Amino acid sequence: MDGHMPPRVREPIVSLDGVTRILTDGPAPVTLVADIAMEVFPGEVVAVTGPSGSGKSSLIYLIGLLDEPTRGRIVLDGRDATRASRSEREIMRLEKIGFVFQFHFLLPEFSATDNIMLPMRKLGRLGEMAMRARAAELLGQFGLGAAGHKRPHQLSGGERQRVAIARALANDPLLVIADEPTGNLDSRNSAIVFDMFRRLTREQGKAVIVVTHDLDLARTVDRQIRLVDGRVVDGGLATA
Ligand SMILES: Nc1ncnc2c1ncn2[C@@H]1O[C@H](COP(=O)(O)OP(=O)(O)OP(=O)(O)O)[C@@H](O)[C@H]1O
Ligand SMILES: [Mg+2]
Repeated sequence: MDGHMPPRVREPIVSLDGVTRILTDGPAPVTLVADIAMEVFPGEVVAVTGPSGSGKSSLIYLIGLLDEPTRGRIVLDGRDATRASRSEREIMRLEKIGFVFQFHFLLPEFSATDNIMLPMRKLGRLGEMAMRARAAELLGQFGLGAAGHKRPHQLSGGERQRVAIARALANDPLLVIADEPTGNLDSRNSAIVFDMFRRLTREQGKAVIVVTHDLDLARTVDRQIRLVDGRVVDGGLATA
């Protein structure tokens, strides 16, 4: 038995069933993803791979509750997001999901600390002191203890991406979703980012879904979900 594999009795953090997204606002309908079945368990790092235009970003926007499927069901932490209201989905997203993008999307006029506090401010559960303490704790965990006051342009690319990951973790989400988080990083910083993802899953039982073009990095994770033409061709369901 592999000690890292989550026991099968555990519930998935997220599962998708028959998820299809069709855009109908243009001259002809465009199918972004079709009939997706997948699940991700606590403790897993899952890579989403596939050719450009295969629907990777579209899929993780759906999983991240930033878009809604035309058909199908998305269950996040036991709750059917497709039956929730818009405001309920917003709260599910802020509480349970952290996002990391290729371009870090840190606000340039804000310090690292203030960037990390943004998701906490949106959720509105903590007071100012508690938010600052949480930001300082995260900065420390990511080896950025002395960088809290710095603004993004005063940080290196690798440091910026670590701040972006710290920000994604601000509300202690169950699931971290990352779209090409290492697309702009050299191989050393890319390896650091993937090591962080592994630690989050191994030590904290979170799950990470990471879109990557880097097949060498994709091979280092627990499972690869491969997309072609908006459909899962491999790896959607964890094999028992
Ligand atoms: N708003 C839109 N309107 C029309 N077509 C779209 C829209 N968004 C995405 N598409 C199309 O849907 C398909 C999937 O796009 P998506 O961005 O999910 O691919 P991807 O796998 O993330 O690609 P990449 O590796 O280049 O980031 C592509 O063919 C894209 O052109
Ligand atoms: Mg993409």
